[in-house]
Amino acid sequence: MANVEDIVRERTKQVAAEFGERGDHFGWFDEIYRNAQGDNEQIPWADLEPNKYFKVWADGSELKGDGKKALVVGCGLGDDAIFLHDLGFRVTAFDIAPTAIEWAKKLSEGRDIDYSVADLFKPDPQWPGAFDFVLEVYTIQPLPLEMRNDVIDAIAAFVKNDGELVIVTRGREDHEEPVELPWPVSRKELSRLETHGFKQTFFEEMPGGEDDLPIPRFVAVYTKG
Ligand SMILES: C[S@@+](CC[C@H](N)C(=O)[O-])C[C@H]1O[C@@H](n2cnc3c(N)ncnc32)[C@H](O)[C@@H]1O
Repeated sequence: MANVEDIVRERTKQVAAEFGERGDHFGWFDEIYRNAQGDNEQIPWADLEPNKYFKVWADGSELKGDGKKALVVGCGLGDDAIFLHDLGFRVTAFDIAPTAIEWAKKLSEGRDIDYSVADLFKPDPQWPGAFDFVLEVYTIQPLPLEMRNDVIDAIAAFVKNDGELVIVTRGREDHEEPVELPWPVSRKELSRLETHGFKQTFFEEMPGGEDDLPIPRFVAVYTKG
C-alpha cells in the first residue's frame, strides 16, 4: 500500500503535468502551496528544516555570515533563509509562488529577512552581481530539462565577483537519462558554471533519504572570479 508521502508525491507530479500540458511550467508550484492549506506535509519538499545536505556542508565548513549579503533562490517556506539569517547573513529570499512567500514570512516572524515574490528569469534589477553568497536548493531540478542551461545561467548571474554559490540537487550520472520529475542534475550540466568564470571548490555526492530507491544528492560549491 502506498504511504502518505508517495501519495503526496504522485499528486504533485499530476498537478505539474496538468500545468505543463498547458505550457505553464511555473504555475503549479503555487497550486501545490495553496492546496496544502497551511499543512507542510502536503508539500513533498517542505519539512520546515534547513536542507540537511546543505547543513552538512555548512556545519563542516563553519559557515558564518558576518553581515554578508545572501540570496536564497526559490526559497519555498524559507527554512534555508532562516538558517542563513541565524548564521549572520543579511538575507534576501524569493520565490515565484506568492503563497510560499506569504507562508515563509509568517514562519520567519521576528527575523529581518527580505522576502519577495519574483521569477528567477525576471529578477529585481538590483540583484544581478549583488550577492556574496547565493544558495539554490532543489530549484533547478523541477524545471523542464529544456530550460536547464537558462536556469543555471540565471542563478549564476546573482553572484558577485569573489562570491560563493552553493547548489543542492538530486544528482545523476552524465550518461543517465532522467525519466521523471524532479529531473536530477548531472555533473556535466553543472560544469557550465565554469564557462561563467566559476571555480568548483567543493563537491560531494551524498546518499538520498528515500526508502525505496535512494536518489543521490549533489552539494556543489563554487567561487566566482
Ligand atoms: C522543489 S521546491 C524547493 C523549495 C525550497 N528551496 C526547499 O528546498 O524547500 C522549488 C521552488 O522553486 C520555486 N520556483 C520554481 N520556479 C521558479 C522561478 N522561475 N523563479 C523563482 N522561484 C521558482 C517554486 O515555487 C518552489 O518553491
